[in-house]
Amino acid sequence: MINSSVIKDNLRPIILIFDSGIGGISVYNEIKKQIPDLYYIYVFDNAGFPYGNKTKLFIIKRIINIIKKISSKYLVSLAVIACNTASIIALVELRKYYSFPIVGIVPAIKPSVKITKNGIIGLLATYNTISSKYIRQLILTFGENHKILTMTASELVYIAESKFLGKKICLNKIHNVLQPWLKKSKIPDTIILGCTHFVLLREELKQILPTNTFLIDSSLAIACRVNYLLRNTQVKIGFLENNIAFCTSINNTSMQLSLILKQYGFPILKIIKLKIN
Ligand code: DGL
Repeated sequence: MINSSVIKDNLRPIILIFDSGIGGISVYNEIKKQIPDLYYIYVFDNAGFPYGNKTKLFIIKRIINIIKKISSKYLVSLAVIACNTASIIALVELRKYYSFPIVGIVPAIKPSVKITKNGIIGLLATYNTISSKYIRQLILTFGENHKILTMTASELVYIAESKFLGKKICLNKIHNVLQPWLKKSKIPDTIILGCTHFVLLREELKQILPTNTFLIDSSLAIACRVNYLLRNTQVKIGFLENNIAFCTSINNTSMQLSLILKQYGFPILKIIKLKIN
């Protein structure tokens, strides 16, 4: 529970959660579990999805515009960039534009080093995340004395989206993605889910990986950080009649998603029209 001084009557912090797709729901779930009494705006850029292989300029321009649109209409107390790719690429830039706190997510490389027993760690993430200087530097800093194998797994992003839509997913496809690690004589015993979408595939990954494999992600750490900031900084508070989800394109899939998002506590799905492409 957050400080009761932060909640007055119906006035509460309004948390904006952003991802390219539905991966950010895994972060939302964790924040909501830890701090239920908040208002939430979930924004996904389905017109720009996926971000995993887009240019830096494309991603930064879109997020700045999207957050500008939302924060000009709604009071935003704090924003969470619930996307590793977007956080690594855009966080520094974004923080120059907005006065509310912005929390980003990065792969859990540091904690994974403390968990591994065989010294072999696997990092599953998008191309942009894995090829970033930031990640190379984290690996150099914390991965000393360990072997950190990296794997671009963009296909899992699409599989996670399908699962969220309630489609039956084929374990063989996930197996194929992991095959380069599974066929090794020494398989990573700790796997970092370095993309928020992959957290939604935790159960399927567990079925494929050896039983002693530890899957680690950063959503709990993000929820703790949000909790800390709400308790220790002067965030603005506001009122939302309902939690709201926003997308950047309305199509058949987003219509289906709107039904599912209702079950997650977002009764309304609206569109943000961006002028950029
Ligand atoms: N969910 C995003 C992440 O955490 C990536 C998905 C995408 O490629 O758009 O990196």
